[in-house]
Amino acid sequence: MNAKQAAGYRAAELVKEGMTVGLGTGSTAYYAIEKIGEMVASGLRIRAIATSKASEELAAKYNIPLVPAAEVDRLDIAIDGADEVDPDLSLIKGGGGALLREKLVAVQSDRFVVIADSNKKVAHLGQFKLPIEIVPFCYEWTLRLLETRYNVPIEMRMNGNELYVTDNGNYIADASFGKIDIPKGLSDELKATTGVVEHGLFVGIAHTVIVGYEDGRTEVI
Ligand code: 5RP
Repeated sequence: MNAKQAAGYRAAELVKEGMTVGLGTGSTAYYAIEKIGEMVASGLRIRAIATSKASEELAAKYNIPLVPAAEVDRLDIAIDGADEVDPDLSLIKGGGGALLREKLVAVQSDRFVVIADSNKKVAHLGQFKLPIEIVPFCYEWTLRLLETRYNVPIEMRMNGNELYVTDNGNYIADASFGKIDIPKGLSDELKATTGVVEHGLFVGIAHTVIVGYEDGRTEVI
């Protein structure tokens, strides 16, 4: 068992009969979905909302029943990966481009459980490029505004020769902050910026982090 699998499987144990479950995106969330799929095959009855088209497909493959958002008020639990986790359980997410749906689902959940291999633990957020989802209309203006305001390198995410397009039809700008001193301040500032749809800072949202290690151990924070 590898570190991601250990974290994903441990988180899946938190899913109980009758729950409404948010399914994350990425290679760690994959293992949680796989395990939940096995539990469903063994008779567990749950319903789920996926945070990306890729995770929707995975859920369908494992016969995990997906439910339209209109039929859900709150989710009991959401399980998702992260790119960086700091000691306050603040996160950078969005390496896989699903940050908007991931945040929508996380904030609607009674318990947001983050699963990560131990390499994701950091003292300060910001080494990983912060994904910022921006609207395509006049995206060059938004990019310029962010570059001018923060004076850090910011790259438009690409998919080959084309701009990367999220499941929501937007673009992603990846910002190299290096070290983010005040995650909450930056989070609020980006959120208030016209042209920015969402960003990958998750501050005060995670309830639990399950860290997986290569020897199969897990640590719950
Ligand atoms: C996708 C995400 C992922 O959860 C994050 O990138 C971690 O991915 P992985 O588990 O593959 O390392 O935020 O938008």
